[in-house]
Amino acid sequence: MNNVKKIADGIFWIGASDRRLERFENIFPIPEGVSYNSYFVDDEKTVVFDTADVTVADQYFENLKAALDGRKLDYLVVLHMEPDHCSQIDKVVALYPDVTVVGGKQTFTFLKQFFPESEGYNKLEVKEGDKLTTGSHTFSFVAAPMVHWPEVLFAYDETTKALLSADAFGTFGALDGGLFADEYDFEKDWIDSARRYYANIVGKYGMQVQAVLKKAAGLDIKMILPLHGPVWRQDLDFFIGKYQKWSTYEFETDSVIVIYGSLYGHTASAAEAVAASLRDKGAADVRVYDVSGVDVSYLISEVWRCKKIVLMCPTYNNGIYPPMGNFISDMAALMVQNRVFALAQNGTWAPASGKLMTEKLAQLKNVTVLENMLTIKSALHPSDKEAVESFTDAIINA
Ligand code: FEO
Repeated sequence: MNNVKKIADGIFWIGASDRRLERFENIFPIPEGVSYNSYFVDDEKTVVFDTADVTVADQYFENLKAALDGRKLDYLVVLHMEPDHCSQIDKVVALYPDVTVVGGKQTFTFLKQFFPESEGYNKLEVKEGDKLTTGSHTFSFVAAPMVHWPEVLFAYDETTKALLSADAFGTFGALDGGLFADEYDFEKDWIDSARRYYANIVGKYGMQVQAVLKKAAGLDIKMILPLHGPVWRQDLDFFIGKYQKWSTYEFETDSVIVIYGSLYGHTASAAEAVAASLRDKGAADVRVYDVSGVDVSYLISEVWRCKKIVLMCPTYNNGIYPPMGNFISDMAALMVQNRVFALAQNGTWAPASGKLMTEKLAQLKNVTVLENMLTIKSALHPSDKEAVESFTDAIINA
């Protein structure tokens, strides 16, 4: 059954949701699923903005054919050449061989790399400021390099004032029938998925997101049409505000997250003691995570949310407990900034993970590592209470 949804006069959603894919990019678990959005413009000329992932190709073509209702396709605009959106370009061109593929210079470089046969396609190269008029709609193009690949373009419809924002303002999560964010309790039911998507997919490119937000500020935007997740037609400032915060690496709350690694439970027990002490001292929101048991993408998302991060782990092969080392590497790769870290190390004979974590965290910009480090010799005991209290005092006061 086709599932085409009207967004505004002449603009329709023809995307699809996937609830079977286990991992997005074969990395990030998506138990909540994901949607691949594609947009159809029914005007004097017919236009499609982006295709969809191969996993939803059948539904996608059913929707596309229903939307076209026998008309031919005039333009296929490629805002993003990552395969979760471009995988069906060759199939679309095979179905509608007269179609003109629209993209930027780098779009066509990538297009040829993925689809060598595209040399023979009809193409229209556009750059920032160029316009595509389809009848009653005029789309102007905005360059959005590295949000999330270098070739990315946004398109702004001067008629409906809709911004087609590629991956920006996207989120993990399959659509539950509703297309618009205002059909859901987004802040309750979607924000964690949106933050996890942002932090892990786009998080590294805060500066580039800032650059494109500044360009967008000059546009009168009434709707945001991303490539993943719901479409925005109300409360745009809420989500733009989140992007403003996330892209400047500002924390959302003063909360503390305690992330521990533990071979046999002793560091885990210490983590619980630290969390309890923080609560006793008035910390309103403390969350504890086992670095071995929680996928790193959720931990990264929590890092984007919270100000204070407590890392507690054993020394392992004279190094950092490996899952903790990987987590810190991920934070460095994603350019995490403006956070406070407190460290606890465990070692039965030569604890060194604290010093090693400190050295590794030096890769992060604008972070504070508290001098007060907690050292555990195999296990915490009541005799260590004073050291724990001193450790948690430093965290509370940071
Ligand atoms: Fe949804 Fe960068 O692709």
